[in-house]
Amino acid sequence: MDKLTVAQARLESAIGKIVLLQGWVRTRRDSKGGFSFLELNDGSCQGNVQVIAEAALPNYESEVKKLHTGCSVSVEGLVKASPAKGQATEVPATKITVHGWADADAYPIQKKGATFEFLRTISHLRPRTNTFGAIARVRNCVCKSIHDFFQEQGFLYVHTPIITASDCEGAGELFKVTTLDLAKAPLLPSPPGGEGSGVRGIDFHQDFFAKPAFLTVSGQLQAEIFACALGKVYTFGPTFRAENSNTPRHLAEFWMIEPEMAFYDLDDNMSLAEAFIKRIIKDALDRCPDDMKFFQERIDKEILARLDGILKSDFLRVPYTEAIDILQKSGQAFEFPVKWGMDLQTEHERFLTETHFKKPTILFDYPRAIKPFYMRVNDDGKTVRAMDVLVPGVGEIIGGSQREERFDVLEGNMKEKGLNLAHYQWYLDLRRYGTVPHSGFGLGLERTLLFLTGMANIRDVIPFPRTPGNAEF
Ligand code: 4AD
Ligand code: MG
Repeated sequence: MDKLTVAQARLESAIGKIVLLQGWVRTRRDSKGGFSFLELNDGSCQGNVQVIAEAALPNYESEVKKLHTGCSVSVEGLVKASPAKGQATEVPATKITVHGWADADAYPIQKKGATFEFLRTISHLRPRTNTFGAIARVRNCVCKSIHDFFQEQGFLYVHTPIITASDCEGAGELFKVTTLDLAKAPLLPSPPGGEGSGVRGIDFHQDFFAKPAFLTVSGQLQAEIFACALGKVYTFGPTFRAENSNTPRHLAEFWMIEPEMAFYDLDDNMSLAEAFIKRIIKDALDRCPDDMKFFQERIDKEILARLDGILKSDFLRVPYTEAIDILQKSGQAFEFPVKWGMDLQTEHERFLTETHFKKPTILFDYPRAIKPFYMRVNDDGKTVRAMDVLVPGVGEIIGGSQREERFDVLEGNMKEKGLNLAHYQWYLDLRRYGTVPHSGFGLGLERTLLFLTGMANIRDVIPFPRTPGNAEF
């Protein structure tokens, strides 16, 4: 007897095998002829296996006829060709063992049409639905294809720290990491002027790391250390942002892929980003055809045509200044009025990529004032070699840049942005000793999944979403 997954048992090659299948009942249907059909799913694929349970089974009346959505079973039987449409095989059972019952009145996900909002309140059960099974499989496929893409091109996978003392993006969206008792935190000595003259800061010398420490917002700065020694590297891990934005595109904990390459300029960086996104799309279409078909049928009728179109065309490369001009001349009533120097909002990004250009667009050369200290300053002194990749349906999916490799310019930028230089001498050392032009970017994994699946809310493409006011489990 072979222990097969449902995915394996659905293949014609399984016909004639005696198998053991294990999973959860999706539905039971009783036939007038005195037998029952069970649809069995084990998460290995979108489809189920149809199990036929004859009345002759010793537990037919006592157990099989009481099975319903959510019950877990083992099924033994011989795989046969199925006469029914839409399935190559079926399994007449010789034995059915029930492992766990699921009270039909209480089990919360048996009805079709449960909203995603409702399913978010039961994220421990939602992986058992078709949609969340498909998302989990596509997410897994994307992660594999990310590693494949970089490994095939000789990139080194580097593990950057999760706990850090630096704020890479300089946006102050850091979660603190401390073992101090907040109610009794040791305070610094009173400021000059004596007791009561000012707020006393916390004495972090007495904290675990002897200084303020945070959850990382990006592994970039540490990836630069390795790129400036080993050439082409990437980091892929969780990142954390305490930004209080309750939008369908923001999470407080999300996964980011950050390649960093020595001797790459901004054009090289853009070409890599485009090839990378295309590879992820192609692998999802090739390796998860049933799940992608499911998204097309149930979530977004345009998704397959859109992804196909993207594979066939080149991404546009448009300077920020030109994009501002297009937005201003568009005649659109935007919630945030457009002017040069502003950070683009999702509404602007989506207008550009969905309505105006109708394809993925890489905006570059953003105003210096709205971008972090590490981006390379252009000769105009006003803009930096930044790039954002915008895609239809989502907006920004990648943010990156060529890095400032000139010591003096970098130091000037850091002073201008108010960084404490004493904390960043290690970063300046990379420019002090054997500096090289280099570039990199960050791809948001969950934004990528929104883009691939057509799902509307980022909370639905990560197993356990963390958002303001929500950190269950
Ligand atoms: O544009 P960001 O902030 O860039 C960086 O962090 C750079 N240090 C990356 C680099 O150059 N190595 O973030 C990169 C991407 C965004 O384009 C977006 O896809 C995703 O990370 N992202 C988020 N995804 C979900 N929730 C959030 N709060 C996100 N913030 C950024
Ligand atoms: Mg960004």
